[in-house]
Amino acid sequence: MSRKIVVTSALPYANGPIHIGHLVEYLQTDIWVRFQKANGNKCLYFCADDTHGTPVMIRARAEGIEPKELIKRVHAEHIRDFENFHIEFDNYYSTHSEENRQFAELIFNRLVEKGSIVKGEIEQAYCDSCGMFLPDRFIRGACPKCKSEDQYGDSCDSCGATYQPTELIKPACATCGKEPVRKKSIHYFFRLADYQKKLKELMASGYTGKSVSSKLDEWFSAGLKDWDISRDGPYFGFKIPGEEDKFFYVWLDAPIGYMASCKNYCDKNGLEFEKVWNGEEYELYHFIGKDIMYFHALFWPAMLMGSGFKIAKRLFVHGFLTVNGEKMSKSKGTFIKAETYAKHLDPEFLRYYYASKLSNGVGDIDLSLDDFVARVNSDLVGKLANLVSRSVPMLTGKLDGMLGATGTDGKELLKQFVAAKEQIINDYENLEYASVIRQIAAMADIANKYVETNRPWDSIKTDAEKTRTTLTTVLNAVKILAIYLKPVLPVFVGKIEKILGVEALTFADVETVLENKKINEYIRLAERVDKDKVQAMLEESKNEPEQKPQVIGDEPLETECTINDFKKVDLRVAKVIKAEKVEGADKLLHLELDIGGITKNVFAGIAKAYEPEVLVGKLVICVANLQPRKMKFGLSEGMILAGGPGGKEIFILGIDSGAKPGQRIH
Ligand code: MSP
Ligand code: ZN
Repeated sequence: MSRKIVVTSALPYANGPIHIGHLVEYLQTDIWVRFQKANGNKCLYFCADDTHGTPVMIRARAEGIEPKELIKRVHAEHIRDFENFHIEFDNYYSTHSEENRQFAELIFNRLVEKGSIVKGEIEQAYCDSCGMFLPDRFIRGACPKCKSEDQYGDSCDSCGATYQPTELIKPACATCGKEPVRKKSIHYFFRLADYQKKLKELMASGYTGKSVSSKLDEWFSAGLKDWDISRDGPYFGFKIPGEEDKFFYVWLDAPIGYMASCKNYCDKNGLEFEKVWNGEEYELYHFIGKDIMYFHALFWPAMLMGSGFKIAKRLFVHGFLTVNGEKMSKSKGTFIKAETYAKHLDPEFLRYYYASKLSNGVGDIDLSLDDFVARVNSDLVGKLANLVSRSVPMLTGKLDGMLGATGTDGKELLKQFVAAKEQIINDYENLEYASVIRQIAAMADIANKYVETNRPWDSIKTDAEKTRTTLTTVLNAVKILAIYLKPVLPVFVGKIEKILGVEALTFADVETVLENKKINEYIRLAERVDKDKVQAMLEESKNEPEQKPQVIGDEPLETECTINDFKKVDLRVAKVIKAEKVEGADKLLHLELDIGGITKNVFAGIAKAYEPEVLVGKLVICVANLQPRKMKFGLSEGMILAGGPGGKEIFILGIDSGAKPGQRIH
């Protein structure tokens, strides 16, 4: 009986591009979904962009755009990348959506009703000059554990520790660099510990694999702490119901985004969300990376328990990608964006390679680039594509493209291939893709041996029908391998289907034999990978600037200045009482200004543009609160507003009206 399945992958952050590390997850999931579909099950695959929180705000700021604009652009980029890698979501949505807001509020309200969310006062870092609390990434300082400098407020890049922003050593506001003060604020907390017993039962019921549950045991014995689910504004996210300036922490509404994506799909396709997401008819599975286990094994199921929603049947956790045995690195060029990869190499090669490495566990997987080239060339091109290229052109060229029957030894060989079906299905089901690929490669070897034994290139000269029998066996072997490979290589297999002139193959077609049937012209399935292309991809990845600073003309733009920053500049009308040249400084004039009863001395670089006499009695605008600066010729206590290219072309911003000295300019 066929199953109904809903699958999710973790939602990628909308603050950056998809890279080959992310692809481990989306490919692992996509292969599983494609397998389920090819095995006769109904399977829906949902994902979305994770749009809220400080990284998106900071990125948008750095680009000088609104978060909304940023997430819109990134959404399109992510979809493009996923399509390039043949990752086929049934819906790819966004956490910044009405559905998500409604579910977030619903779940929050239910949890409040249950008493699982409580308010509490905490002390937080606050930047007086920016006028905001400094959560997560808005504060930097040295890591309290390893003392590495310039780390974010939530976790250390160097040692991986997580901590509170207030624990940072020598903290500084990430926006303005000022030292923050501590300020009290009311926050909302989810009482995770209330769910300890139920969570333990969930783990015992097989929600996660072994290595994951042993990690969870550690967390259980350390004790589950309350979870701060709120952030003070300004924050890009959803407002907490009943609050003016408090928002849901991004990790509250992120997993709810799974539901929002599903709901959006159901509404568009006339399905009942309640049935698809929450009913018993559908099995639900989440795929995630090991770094976000805490959220998916503890917070998320607890939130669902507390709000009366179904919990996934199983959480699949994979390890991290390393490249040539090391963490992805910008300087080595191994921090490769999906976009960059696709420019240089066939995305299906990565699908094949990852599949050949993936198994059901949290161990890291290594993309060794030399091995990648070798594997693709030897297995995919040398063994699999080769079977097709040595049989199809001969059949279409010399034997009218007609398949015959398979013959006795052929039947024997195919029987062996058919017998592998059950194991392969089990392996796919259990995420043992490496095993699938090993079996396929071994069968490809057997098929190639069969070709070599039967030597169709010789027999074609003397015995056309014997040759037809050989090639018919080979192409039936190809058909079976194509079915086994299809979840991994949809395009490659699509070409085989076209050549064989068959409808979309599924696992149900393994046993059927293609006989006495005309096939189509040969299409090349795959080109060998050239090492130069891998090198070019690395070079391009090296040269990518992490974030383009904005430059106008050839001057880089200063970091953004908020309206609050700008308000700190106190501009006053000032009357020039005295103006004189400065001995030994031919650019400077010494001005004495009356700012409504206060006299200030200012040295201004306008001597080339103005004769001192003409300035006396004029009204100018002065920065009245500028920190005094000792110059060679005396103390300068302010600055007057003037601008221009320089030399004679400097123009004082003057006032001709009846303004009074000391009056503030807004
Ligand atoms: N936005 C959160 C997930 C919210 S889910 C409700 C997030 N985003 S992410 O963009 O950082 O990562 C998305 C997924 O990709 C995560 O499952 C993460 O583990 C996975 N990977 C990100 N980098 C990876 C590697 N280098 N290697 C393998 N998987 C990686 O976390
Ligand atoms: Zn600040």
